Amino acid sequence: MNSNPRRKIVFVPDAEALAESAAERLLARIAQGGNRTAICLTGGTSPERLYWRLAESPYRGAIPWDRVHWFIGDERFVPADNTLSNMGAARRLFLDHVGVPGGNIHPVATDAASPDAAARLYEAELKQFYDRDRLDPAKPLFDLVLMGLGRDGHTASLFPGSPALDERVRWVVGVEQAGLAPFVPRVTLTFPALASTHEMLFLVSGEDKHEILGRALSGDDLPASRAHADGDLVWLIDRAARPKNFDDSA
Ligand code: 6PG
Repeated sequence: MNSNPRRKIVFVPDAEALAESAAERLLARIAQGGNRTAICLTGGTSPERLYWRLAESPYRGAIPWDRVHWFIGDERFVPADNTLSNMGAARRLFLDHVGVPGGNIHPVATDAASPDAAARLYEAELKQFYDRDRLDPAKPLFDLVLMGLGRDGHTASLFPGSPALDERVRWVVGVEQAGLAPFVPRVTLTFPALASTHEMLFLVSGEDKHEILGRALSGDDLPASRAHADGDLVWLIDRAARPKNFDDSA
């Protein structure tokens, strides 16, 4: 039995279908989002096709860019124009090509003195956007939070064994040591902040993910299995990543 009634697992044939399906879900959330929608993006390779698709027809013309705000769930502590930057990748793949008002893009200030200082600044920015400093499950901060799954079971920059996994008060923390390449310090939203969303959408694609995904979905204690959402929790998975002998009712 699925112990989380709001968890939904959706299988799609391939990476292209995954991007298409994620774009449709994103569009639906924006449509439901009212005057101001907040999307929390993710880094890594998994969302790249989606980002690229958003800059193309029909999504480019269908998204009301002036009323959507774009945040990032975790960032590598590198200059904004470094190729490792997560928001930098989102900019290159779509945000810089679609006419988003500058104030609608919310990067982490990686020119701050330290990852922790950048985390505190980002938390203040999120609180200002949210217009209160306590998260209310009845009023999620985000409309959609995108998430990836690392080969070690991490998600955002919440790595196995990290004290950040147990953070309950802060919305954003600095991570001095990444658990997986690229080994640069990170800034990451914490589970309570990521959970404050109408929908959390995991994107999992490729053969190299099926083993760790099997563990995550069966509830092994991995960072990704700890992720939760005030709203819907959706795992979008392509055929190559589908765990062997996966029981759909589990
Ligand atoms: C990061 C990411 C990270 C990512 C996973 C999956 O900054 O590295 O936000 O959490 O989502 O590592 O990465 P891939 O999509 O590249 O497999």
